[in-house]
Amino acid sequence: MDIADNKQLVKQGAEAKIFKGSFLRKPAMFKERFRKTYRHPILDESITKERMKAEARSLVRCRMLGIHTPAVYSIDFSTRVIIMEDVSEDTQTMRMYIDNVQNSNKNDVLKELKPLMERVGQIIATLHKNSIVHGDLTTSNMLVKLGRDRSTPEVIIIDFGLSYVDGSAEDKGVDLYVLERAFLSTHPNTEELFKTLLQSYRRNYGKGSSEVLNKLEEVRMRGRKRTMVG
Ligand SMILES: Nc1ncnc2c1ncn2[C@@H]1O[C@H](COP(=O)(O)OP(=O)(O)OP(=O)(O)O)[C@@H](O)[C@H]1O
Ligand SMILES: [Mg+2]
Repeated sequence: MDIADNKQLVKQGAEAKIFKGSFLRKPAMFKERFRKTYRHPILDESITKERMKAEARSLVRCRMLGIHTPAVYSIDFSTRVIIMEDVSEDTQTMRMYIDNVQNSNKNDVLKELKPLMERVGQIIATLHKNSIVHGDLTTSNMLVKLGRDRSTPEVIIIDFGLSYVDGSAEDKGVDLYVLERAFLSTHPNTEELFKTLLQSYRRNYGKGSSEVLNKLEEVRMRGRKRTMVG
């Protein structure tokens, strides 16, 4: 990419490389999806294009809804790059943030993390009410921005490559289930904390939330049955 000078690799993910650089003199992140050689080249190209479109579309939609996501600066299908706002200043992944609180000697981890969980529940409720299903909710795909005054941190949602628009309760239930599985396996002893998130989701979603949460319970039971059968 000639528009970026001195790009620096900051993260090698499963699907993409993330470079830090600048775009029109602003600090920017370059998300470059690499080719998967095990896929047929034509299929690989079309999957990549769909993911890039989904990502850019949802990033823009979220911002219109007041959900904090990186601004999209540019998208180039030929080089497989999305250029977006660099939100790394004062941020860390939610995963690291929770790890740090859990490993600190604070005696009330639940109380410390409760406001954050309420915020996440509220954000996912807003996404779902507007028919955006994220598709890959994990604590690595959420960034926590610490307020200058150390008040309740702001949450930034990223990595929308698997997102899509769907109004069904089933798909929203699965979205929550993916997060629950990721959350509880990444962060031990957080069942209570996750309940806070779901309560906030219910409260903020309002009418229709019971249908989604019933679906979540159904998907959980299916999951359990599957592990019992082996
Ligand atoms: N706009 C951004 N500003 C700051 N940091 C970012 C930005 N986008 C991505 N990152 C950082 O790069 C990491 C990987 O980004 P992302 O999740 O979009 O890619 P990925 O290929 O799906 O990675 P993974 O396979 O690890 O999920 C994030 O966890 C975050 O730390
Ligand atoms: Mg990711």
